Amino acid sequence: MKKASIAICLIAAFCLMLGGVALAGDKGSGGGGSTGTISGTVKDINTGAAISGATISNGSASATTDANGNYTMSATAGSNTLSASASGYQQTWQVCSVTAGQTTSVNWSLTKAYGSQTIPAASMDWVILGWNDLGMHCDQDDYSYFCVLPPFNTLHVQVFQRSSKSSPVMSGITVSYAFAKKTDSTLHTNFWTYASNFGWNLAPNVGLTGNGLSGDMKADSNNLSWVADGIPITPYDDDGTWDPYGTATITVKDSSGNVLQTADVVAPVSTEMMCSNCHGTSNPQLDILQEHDSYNGTTLASDAQAGKPHRCSECHADNALGAPGQPGVESLSLAMHKFHAGKVAATTDGCYNCHPGSKTQCLRGIMERAGKGCIDCHGDMNQVYTSIQNGRSPWLNEPKCANCHDSKHQENSNTLYRNSILNNSPGSSMNGKLYCEACHNSTHAELTTANSADPTIPQKFQGDNYWIWSCQICHTGKTNTAAMHK
Ligand code: HEC
Ligand code: HEC
Ligand code: HEC
Ligand code: HEC
Ligand code: HEC
Ligand code: HEC
Ligand code: HEC
Repeated sequence: MKKASIAICLIAAFCLMLGGVALAGDKGSGGGGSTGTISGTVKDINTGAAISGATISNGSASATTDANGNYTMSATAGSNTLSASASGYQQTWQVCSVTAGQTTSVNWSLTKAYGSQTIPAASMDWVILGWNDLGMHCDQDDYSYFCVLPPFNTLHVQVFQRSSKSSPVMSGITVSYAFAKKTDSTLHTNFWTYASNFGWNLAPNVGLTGNGLSGDMKADSNNLSWVADGIPITPYDDDGTWDPYGTATITVKDSSGNVLQTADVVAPVSTEMMCSNCHGTSNPQLDILQEHDSYNGTTLASDAQAGKPHRCSECHADNALGAPGQPGVESLSLAMHKFHAGKVAATTDGCYNCHPGSKTQCLRGIMERAGKGCIDCHGDMNQVYTSIQNGRSPWLNEPKCANCHDSKHQENSNTLYRNSILNNSPGSSMNGKLYCEACHNSTHAELTTANSADPTIPQKFQGDNYWIWSCQICHTGKTNTAAMHK
């Protein structure tokens, strides 16, 4: 019997950086000449080997790593922007906050310099960059007791014609998606049996916004990418194989139906929400509802047993679903993280009790490879919920790249990473056209990642597993003499 796995990660999501978490970006205090110390270790991200002779600089002072990759430098108190350079590696930047008289630790994990391979896109005219909006979506195997989150995945595609100057291309083509191994989600979840109880009247195998497991994509609201939202996939292939990293094939055709280009893109989804780790093995879902009823005077268990399961967001506001909830009742994120604070370890594995998960490993992007965990970016359970009590909107205010990286590599102001667009590119007409995720992939899965399902696009067009760095992906006759972020 399937576990009471529910849903979790999902649909929407921006800045949390809870005042007080020692992360970065403290703009305050100049501190009139008072100094502190920065120290740390520089390693190779692939091998973990120490890198000696690397230079760490904050613009005015610098230090060189010793044979063990260690460095120490003094720095003016306040916010510092550091860069790390080493022969044979990409240069990278981090911000940190230094307190007078104290030592701040800043460690580095460097990625090897770009290769000199022939760029496959250089012999193509059409290029597809595609991505999933989030690094992971969650759904449930069983909806007969309750619904946290429905099946809901979202793919984006930007299309470029290298010989033309009018890219990204948003007219004169059709863009479609299809999952070769996932064509019938009704085989693997009873979602459609109960969807009407949750307020959704849907034909089987059709998602909340009317999309199925294949179809045509539409222009997004910025008219910059092609999008298919609410795709109701599950982590199971039609033959039952569990694959939370299934891929869709994207096909671009001209108006006569000739195929111009294809590419595969991962659409991550997992049901690995392990409430059963603590709510008993016989019937964890019923246990959860009985606990809820006994604490809050609800009738969720008997309603479910009478065939009328509830959606948590009927009462608890949930921005992932645009659900307002009931006045006076805590949002679902607040209720869940507050009640369960102190019940899980303050580690990524602690979060993996409910977020997917020890098998799924949804956190797999370059930051995870550099040693960062959920808590480095989101804070622990207490910080996840107290930040909400202090005004953070769940799903809409999440961490920022610029909490750690420098200001040349930041999101658009008041905008989630996944909705942000590059505005400091090497060409002024290139600004305002390319989504961050088109080059870096989704949050939690930023290239280069630990999961071989992620880099299908750079492999096909760039000939490596990196983020998109080669000008030749989109241009003929431009070479990589400029940084992508000016
Ligand atoms: C056209 C591809 C492209 C787009 C679009 C793009 N980037 Fe980048 N990004 C790069 C490349 C290439 C690098 C390597 C450093 C450089 O060239 O500046 C990079 C580096 C980074 C880094 C790492 C910086 C460091 O310290 O090493 C961050 C963070 C980043 N980008 C964030 C963003 C954000 C946020 C956006 C959207 C506002 C974005 N990128 C859009 C290509 C892109
Ligand atoms: C908690 C701090 C933190 C946050 C937040 C963060 N990063 Fe990073 N990032 C790192 C560290 C550490 C590395 C390893 C390289 C280094 O040591 O600077 C790294 C490396 C990278 C690199 C490779 C750069 C290179 O040339 O080696 C890219 C690209 C990148 N991050 C993009 C992003 C994007 C995009 C976001 C936001 C979605 C983001 N980062 C958020 C800490 C962070
Ligand atoms: C690390 C252990 C752990 C995990 C994992 C866990 N819970 Fe709990 N949960 C508890 C404990 C302990 C209680 C309180 C039991 C009691 O008081 O008898 C509880 C109680 C609850 C309650 C009742 C709270 C109330 O006041 O209404 C709900 C609802 C709940 N859990 C939902 C979930 C859901 C949904 C999941 C999976 C996403 C989950 N829990 C995962 C430990 C856990
Ligand atoms: C019919 C309305 C209703 C539904 C449906 C509902 N809840 Fe609740 N829930 C409440 C009320 C009312 C409270 C107590 C007041 C509050 O939390 O604001 C509560 C409390 C909780 C708490 C304890 C919060 C705390 O801070 O102690 C958790 C956890 C919780 N609910 C989780 C869930 C989950 C998970 C679901 C779906 C399986 C769910 N609820 C469905 C009404 C509901
Ligand atoms: C390197 C920093 C970083 C780490 C590590 C990280 N997150 Fe995130 N998280 C983010 C950012 C940035 C967003 C906002 C993404 C966006 O623009 O939608 C986010 C968003 C989310 C969301 C909202 C849905 C979404 O995907 O946008 C959830 C849920 C979440 N994170 C859970 C986790 C969990 C659980 C872990 C550990 C397993 C984790 N995160 C680790 C940076 C991080
Ligand atoms: C007991 C189960 C449970 C644990 C443990 C848990 N979460 Fe969650 N989390 C949830 C549920 C359920 C949701 C989805 C709520 C919704 O749909 O709005 C969620 C949503 C989120 C979100 C998106 C909403 C928001 O507040 O922005 C973030 C971010 C998040 N969790 C981070 C974490 C981090 C970080 C940890 C570990 C420190 C963690 N969670 C541990 C159950 C849990
Ligand atoms: C993901 C696709 C993409 C990548 C990669 C890319 N560009 Fe662009 N670039 C564009 C688009 C789109 C435009 C705008 C074309 C138009 O509509 O006029 C543009 C325009 C430009 C322009 C201004 C017009 C022109 O042709 O002179 C310059 C300069 C430029 N890019 C330089 C670069 C450089 C240098 C690189 C590599 C560091 C690069 N681009 C990588 C998509 C890309």
